Amino acid sequence: MSDTTPTLYKGLVGVYADVSAVSKVMPETNSLTYRGYAVQDLCEETDFEQVAYLLWHGELPSAAQLAAFQAEERANRALSPALLRVLRDFPKDAHPMDAIRTAISFMGMEDPEAGDVSDAAQRRKAMRLLAKAPTAVAAAHRLAKGLEPIAPDPALPWCENFFHLVFGKVPQPEVIKSFDVSMILYAEHTFNASTFTARTVTSTGADIHGAITAGIAALKGPLHGGANEAVMHMLKEVGSPEAAEDWLEGKFDHRALVMGFGHRVYKSGDSRVPTMTKYAEKMAEVVGDRRWMETSRVLAAKMLRVKNIHPNLDFPAGPAYYLMGFDIPLFTPIFVCSRITGWAAHVFEQAADNRLIRPLSHYTGPEQRPVPPIAARG
Ligand code: COA
Repeated sequence: MSDTTPTLYKGLVGVYADVSAVSKVMPETNSLTYRGYAVQDLCEETDFEQVAYLLWHGELPSAAQLAAFQAEERANRALSPALLRVLRDFPKDAHPMDAIRTAISFMGMEDPEAGDVSDAAQRRKAMRLLAKAPTAVAAAHRLAKGLEPIAPDPALPWCENFFHLVFGKVPQPEVIKSFDVSMILYAEHTFNASTFTARTVTSTGADIHGAITAGIAALKGPLHGGANEAVMHMLKEVGSPEAAEDWLEGKFDHRALVMGFGHRVYKSGDSRVPTMTKYAEKMAEVVGDRRWMETSRVLAAKMLRVKNIHPNLDFPAGPAYYLMGFDIPLFTPIFVCSRITGWAAHVFEQAADNRLIRPLSHYTGPEQRPVPPIAARG
């Protein structure tokens, strides 16, 4: 390249794009805090609803604040008849991520405050999204399987209601706790690709439904949220702990990516993995099937020994969801239902102190040239 090539940060590696008070990743200590609280402490001491409140308001709720938050969420879970009709018309083989992306976009059109991007309206819309997204994810999934959608149950907390919507029943408390922990761990993670996408959309003055629709599009990719599905497909392909070492050798021979490993920010371990692994192990105990966690253990040990690459959150989350009974294509939509909280917190933050996000590109195409007449073009 010529001397005039500016310094490029491909993939925006190492670039600080803005300040944020929502969460902090500390790769040197493999730790992560939301609003100053360590995520592993939040997992043990609180629940997903309290964490959603924390991300949106900056502080953990009092009992009265939590009760009001829960009441508002529970009152907003039902889908409109129009959206339910649209869901019925989705192609049966549509990926559930495409279904929830489209459903959220539709919710944006029918939202009673569609044209209002004031902070107060955006916060009310975020609550509606947190409440309705599980209903839409579960309804689309059930319809694709030839089953009728199940109406949300306002008597149930958010996590219990999620299982009710998908399966028509609520599992034992250990399962709910493992799911709740996964929701907390997936809720927020600084300027990852989907959150940065949501902030970029917000920076144009667009509304929160647009920002979250775009965030979902970004999250679907296998280098981002789609990895939790890819991990489970991989574990099934490996098949057993005994087969894991040879299977991995084959991947090394082809220099192939191993899903659920590596991270842009953490290079010596993902802060969320020990907690999620602990709760995935609990799921293996509850279900009485240790095959997937044993296979995972062999893969992780060899990846570390040979490549010095650690697993990321998707690695234990994939088998945890499988053991909970969820179909694999639902894994990333489950991630969506949690990450709506983090995306929304960033939407509020970006809008409160906005500057249009618009980086530069260094042009490497042809020099300026005349347009040839069509007859002269080969
Ligand atoms: N399997 C095999 N090798 C991997 C790897 C993986 N999962 N992740 C990284 N590496 C290798 C890269 O090939 C690269 O090797 P090289 O230096 O010989 O070319 C080296 O480790 C550095 O990785 P790099 O691609 O620079 O990291 P990144 O920050 O650009 O990418 C991810 C981060 C997450 C995109 C990447 O690790 C990945 O694709 N992981 C698998 C998908 C996944 O689990 N995503 C969920 C993320 S939470």
